[in-house]
Formats: sequence, structure tokens, C-alpha cells
Amino acid sequence: MANAWFETVAEAQRRAKRRLPASVYGALVAGAEKGLSVQDNLTAFDQLGLSPHVAGLPHTRQMATTVMGQHVSMPVLISPTGVQAVHPQGEVAIARAAANRGVAMGLSSFASKSVEDVVAANPQTFFQTYWCGDKDTLVQRLERARAAGAKGVIVTLDWSFSNGRDWGSPWIPEKIDLKAAFKLAPEVLAKPRWLWSFVRTGRIPDLAAPNMAKPGQPAPTFFGAYYEWMQTPFPTWDEVAWLRSQWDGPFMVKGVGRIDDAKRVVDLGATALSVSNHGGNNLDGTPAPIRMLPAIVDAVGNDIEVLLDGGVRRGSDVVKALALGARAVMIGRAYLWGLAANGQAGVENVLDLLRSGIDATMTGIGKASIADLTRDDVVAPDGFWRRLGT
Ligand SMILES: Cc1cc2nc3c(=O)[nH]c(=O)nc-3n(C[C@H](O)[C@H](O)[C@H](O)COP(=O)(O)O)c2cc1C
Repeated sequence: MANAWFETVAEAQRRAKRRLPASVYGALVAGAEKGLSVQDNLTAFDQLGLSPHVAGLPHTRQMATTVMGQHVSMPVLISPTGVQAVHPQGEVAIARAAANRGVAMGLSSFASKSVEDVVAANPQTFFQTYWCGDKDTLVQRLERARAAGAKGVIVTLDWSFSNGRDWGSPWIPEKIDLKAAFKLAPEVLAKPRWLWSFVRTGRIPDLAAPNMAKPGQPAPTFFGAYYEWMQTPFPTWDEVAWLRSQWDGPFMVKGVGRIDDAKRVVDLGATALSVSNHGGNNLDGTPAPIRMLPAIVDAVGNDIEVLLDGGVRRGSDVVKALALGARAVMIGRAYLWGLAANGQAGVENVLDLLRSGIDATMTGIGKASIADLTRDDVVAPDGFWRRLGT
């Protein structure tokens, strides 16, 4: 058998493309409309350079930190992703990998595995929710996450139901019944390894969202849950503050790009915010988070933990984000490619690549600790930054 280890996230993505049915791979590629934001998330990191030293380099490098009260071995977290059918163990495999590497886990409310199973695999789990359903339902979900042992909550606000991709969206059935199986058969049969990974567990992907279940009821289908979300009016800032008051513990707002919004997130008493454009999957044309980060750090960095997610594929990206003021980053597609390529070991592989990449980058720029990183470590071209709001 070929070596299962891969040396970069790009190689993991190539393997994911080879192994996954086209619809599942397409769901991970995601993106919105013309794909401008998804591309900018990657381009922006490429445009940033690093400022190297050549002697006096540190012999050891320190990258452990704390995020939302959790000690983590490096400044990288698993960003919540609601995807189905990538791997039979899904988010449990991701959680185990993260726990093995001392990394905290964000679990999507649209995930395929229950918060109970995921927290059991990684006690450092933050439960992510959208503003979906009525207030009683929102509170019930938080209560369930608390009872399961979740250490914090992530509320993702940047979703406005953009639809249509110029390259086409994958067809995803409501559930896998005979008709759907027949329709999907050609692409699934072309990926025997993926099929076998499910067949040998005796299960087929059920495309359900167990964390969206109402008390005493079965898990809704992914689309059933999505429909509930689409029917829910968007929250006001007062309602977000109300939700914060329902969770007595660390609370992150994910999806912030503007300075005025960041200030409101501070005002409502959140522990953390993530500068994010939802991996480019939402409002196309939203700038890459790394362009918006310094303005937000300058405005609220002393009042709240500022994280970033979007476009992180290598250790040097993590170092760039930290040098520009992020406390840590969250990764999405990078670990999804790892999961698709090689299950739990593939996610561990990705985390190991990021760790060694952070280490090598810090060495090259002569920094012994992530606490020593500064904006001078990064070189940005003219016109790089985006300052949104005041
Ligand atoms: C397939 C997919 C599903 C996602 N689902 C969710 C979700 O359920 N909740 C959420 O807060 N963010 C979700 N995201 C966004 C990620 O948490 C994160 O913001 C994004 O992936 C970061 O960009 P990156 O993929 O370039 O690392 C999803 C992203 C992808 C790619």
C-alpha cells in the first residue's frame, strides 16, 4: 500500500478528490457565487511575506496557549463544519485526532455525530450553533451541550443564505433511500474505497443532524434542520446578547468582519470573536479575514480574544495571523481534506503539518515564542489591508 502520510494539505486535498464521491467532495469545496471570497482567503495569505533572520535563531520554540479558558498545545483549533458522509466516524474521528494533539474542537450543530459522542472523544469541545429555531429550542440545544460537557459555545452569525455557484452545486439528497442510492450509484461505485469505509461499518451515511433534534424526537435530516434555520428571522443584537446570557461560560461570536460589529460583540460580553467570512461560503466579495484582522485587533484586541479563520493551509499562515494579532486560528477545509484522505490519522497528519510549519516559520523569523510575534515579522504589499466600519 502506498504511504498514507501526506506532506502538505494540498496533497491531502488531491487525495480527498480522488477518494470522495464528486458530490461529497463538492460539498467540502463549497464557496459561494463566483468564489471571490474563497479565493481571496488563499490569495491574501500568499501575498504576505515573512521577514527572516539568519543567525541567533532560537533552539526551542513555544507555541502552547489558552483559548476560551482551554489550554491547547498550539494556536490552532478545529473550526466547526457541518458536513456529512465524508467518513463513517465523522466528527468523532476529528475529535479524537484533535484530543491526541492537544487541540480544541469546534462542533457544528449541523454535524453528523452527537455532541455527547464528540465531547467523550475530546473534552475540549466548543459547541457551535446558528440562530436557528425559537428561543426555547436554542436554549434546549445549549442545555444539551452543557449536559454533555461542552466547554464553551460558538455562535456563528455570518450566514445570509446566498445561493448558486458558478461552478455548480452538488446534488445532495434529503436522505439516502433507494431512489437516491440509484441516482448516486455511478459516482459512488467509482469510489470503492470510500464505499468500503462505510460498508464495513454496516452503515450508510444517513445525512442526519443529531444535535438539531428536539427533545424526545429523532434527529432531523440535514435539510430538515436547514429548513428550520431558513424559516427563523435573523437575530437582533439584543437577541444575541440574550443568547449570551443563556450560557454561563466561554462564548465566541464567529463571522465578524467589521470594527463596529466587533465592538458590539465586546459589549454583549463575549469571550472571543473570530474574524471570518465563513470560509468564503457566505457573502461573496467579503474580504479575506487576514486583511481585516489588524483593524479589528487594534479596536478590540485588549477586550476580547480575537481569532481568525479562513484560508489557513500551512504553519506559516498561522504565524502570519498571530503576528498580525490573532490569539489563535481555526481551520476548516484543511482537516476535512485530512479526514477524507486518511480518517483520524489524516486529521492528525494535518495537525502535525501545521505544528511543524509553525515551528519552522518561527525558527526562520527568529522567534522563540508565539508571544514574541509582531507585525514586523510580516511583509504586506501596498493596499493589502481592509478596514470595515468604524
Ligand atoms: C464544508 C463546510 C461546512 C461548514 N459548516 C460550518 C458550520 O456548520 N458552522 C460554522 O460555524 N462554520 C461552518 N463552516 C465554516 C468553517 O467553520 C470555517 O469558518 C471555514 O471553513 C474556514 O475556512 P477554511 O475552510 O479556508 O479553513 C463550514 C465550512 C465548510 C468548508
